[in-house]
Amino acid sequence: MQTRVLTGITTTGTPHLGNYVGAIRPAVEASRRDDVDAFYFMADYHALIKSDDAARIERSRLEIAATWLAAGLDPARVTFYRQSDIPEIPELTWFLTCVASKGMLNRAHAYKAAVDRNTETGEDADAGITAGLYMYPVLMAADILAFDAHKVPVGRDQIQHIEMARDLGQRFNHIHGREFFVLPEALIEEQVATLPGLDGRKMSKSYDNTIPLFAGGKKQLRETIMRIVTDSRLPGEPKDPDSAALFTIFRAFASEIETAAFRQALLGGLGWGEAKQVLYERIESDVAPMRERYEAFMADPVAIEAILQQGAQKARAIATPKIAALREALGLRSARSVATTAGQPKPVPKQGKMPRFASFRDADGNFRFRLFSADGEELLLSMPFADPKAAGALQKRLRALGAAAAVLQVQSSGMSLVLDGEPVASTPDYRDESERNDALAQLHEALDQLAAHE
Ligand code: TRP
Repeated sequence: MQTRVLTGITTTGTPHLGNYVGAIRPAVEASRRDDVDAFYFMADYHALIKSDDAARIERSRLEIAATWLAAGLDPARVTFYRQSDIPEIPELTWFLTCVASKGMLNRAHAYKAAVDRNTETGEDADAGITAGLYMYPVLMAADILAFDAHKVPVGRDQIQHIEMARDLGQRFNHIHGREFFVLPEALIEEQVATLPGLDGRKMSKSYDNTIPLFAGGKKQLRETIMRIVTDSRLPGEPKDPDSAALFTIFRAFASEIETAAFRQALLGGLGWGEAKQVLYERIESDVAPMRERYEAFMADPVAIEAILQQGAQKARAIATPKIAALREALGLRSARSVATTAGQPKPVPKQGKMPRFASFRDADGNFRFRLFSADGEELLLSMPFADPKAAGALQKRLRALGAAAAVLQVQSSGMSLVLDGEPVASTPDYRDESERNDALAQLHEALDQLAAHE
């Protein structure tokens, strides 16, 4: 069983060492695990809330994509995309907006802080506050809920947003009477260091104390490291590693053995200037190969675009059927499907008028089955199984699944049903999107009928 891990990066800045150590490196590592299904995306709609500088947003989107790829993210393995390439996200944002309580949004930290600043300065409470800032948590909830993410790695400042996403998912599930959404959990990495910046406070753009990851090349990296604040102890005097920002930064890159040696050297009186050179060389040995890849990507934005478009396609393969199911539940079905059930209460299927499974052996001798609707339409064809028991076990799971828990993934012209991260059955091919949506509605109905009978 895979855990779906999803996180977004707001595209307003240029990545620095703190971003690398605190977010990028652990995310890339997590994405290599077999039990993780990683969804990483650029939150460029969120960027619009923070900045109206188009050139900056454009540059940041490229820099961040190139940085993640250079840091070893494998786009074939993870789903790596831009928020603004997924139209289902703003659509879901609206659905969630309609169940969001305004009072909850009033309590969001970022909005409240802005109101407090206004009140302190005697301004109107909402002066200068956009509805975008106010709605920030709903857009973020849509990012997460559209993909049924289980875990969301974030900084502590984002925990409230994850709680709001859970709240919105839960409300929607409750109002519409089904488990449409997985309720996400925040993942706070205790192990991951928050890196101190040049002045010893947390490395952050807002303190202007950052060390750039790639920008300015190795020259800039070295120059910035030389500006890390230290105490005034002279070479030869013992230094206290545990109160030195540069030691904490070193430790975030080095092995335990290297760290112990560096500690000894500082205790033994290593001069700050030399210590900074050691730090620079240690970081540069990790960063240099990545920087080379980064520069190659930055020189080829078309290649980045192609990767992101493929990512968007993978992401939409999941979001599109999800949103179609929500539209159905909300009363936004195509009128063609309405025509077939108009005026009649939902029929309670009579005995013998149930969806049914038909098992068979294929030409290779494998065991497979089809699922037919109550009206005899083919809905699903299972994957082949060498063991008939495995085919039977899958049927059993499908009987109990119910429509809301069905994860469908759009293929070239049909869809596949995914269980525990693996495709287990596929639908026939459809001519177009509306035919596909009709078939999806039928499949949902059949799964609910089966589950009701379990
Ligand atoms: N708000 C997050 C931040 O500032 C970025 C973000 C947007 C995000 N959408 C998300 C993070 C969804 C996790 C999941 O850090």
